[in-house]
Amino acid sequence: MAAEDAVARSLPLRSGHLVIPHDAYGGTYRLVAKLLDVEFTAVDLSDRAALEAAWRPETAAVWVETPTNPLLGIVDIAAVAAFAHARGAVCVVDNTFATPWLQRPLGLGADVVVHSASKYLGGHSDVVGGFAACNDPALADTLGLVQRAAGAVPGPFDCFLVLRGVKTLSVRMARHCANAAAVVELLCAHPAVAGVRYPGLASHPGHDVATRQMRDYGAMVAFTVHGGEEAALALAGRTRLFTLAESLGGVESLVGHPARMSHAAVVGSPLEVDPALIRLSVGIEDPADLVADLRQALDSLAPSPG
Ligand SMILES: Cc1ncc(COP(=O)(O)O)c(C=O)c1O
Repeated sequence: MAAEDAVARSLPLRSGHLVIPHDAYGGTYRLVAKLLDVEFTAVDLSDRAALEAAWRPETAAVWVETPTNPLLGIVDIAAVAAFAHARGAVCVVDNTFATPWLQRPLGLGADVVVHSASKYLGGHSDVVGGFAACNDPALADTLGLVQRAAGAVPGPFDCFLVLRGVKTLSVRMARHCANAAAVVELLCAHPAVAGVRYPGLASHPGHDVATRQMRDYGAMVAFTVHGGEEAALALAGRTRLFTLAESLGGVESLVGHPARMSHAAVVGSPLEVDPALIRLSVGIEDPADLVADLRQALDSLAPSPG
């Protein structure tokens, strides 16, 4: 018990201050803002000046998401980890969108990597789970204490499903990424689309960093349509192959409206999402079928002004 007490005293996130991304996953925001006993500042972590301004002497950790959900922002993991370490803090990376196949945060200097295993790692939308990985035994003890005390222990069948999913991760990810590139090509050319966010586009502000720290650009795509929320909702209801659903990372393609779905928890907060935004989780179906489905849904929207 004395050893456990010592570990408990070293818990880095029990109090103090946390820096999180300005477009963090809504559930992360909910946890930090509504459950944890910490103060936090939400900033654009790709903006070094903003990170410096947000930092406080008592900042215990910076929570990185890259690519971010749902805006596909890219954060330079090595730079943020070095920044945190120079100030005695911990860098945590949510690597859910990238997966270990596309991006390896521990090798870039992060202290802890967290994953929703419900997404690409499981890969088939049939399991809920997650994990935190680190390469420091003391930090692992701390995480172990949290797990024992809070009860975040997965069942054996869930572990089996994730382990089975991981066996095909590399082939699925390669197909996911290739399909996403085909979908992005359509979106960039379609007149109903106002803007596309995808780190693989040379015009994306984080493109160079993504090219440096990722093997490929992933299969999450976000875009806005002309016509605002009404058009976005209409589009989300008209795809046939892209199913309207909130999760991501499975073999089936999904379409979502973040403002009303995955990011409903941040409405009214600084993290609120543009209601004209659509998020796609591009699956591993035939790419021509995916492009055709999206094209018919986009074609059905009213023509853009001009
Ligand atoms: C970036 C990110 N992290 C974590 C999670 C949480 O995943 P889970 O559904 O397994 O709780 C999600 C869910 O969408 C996510 O997008």
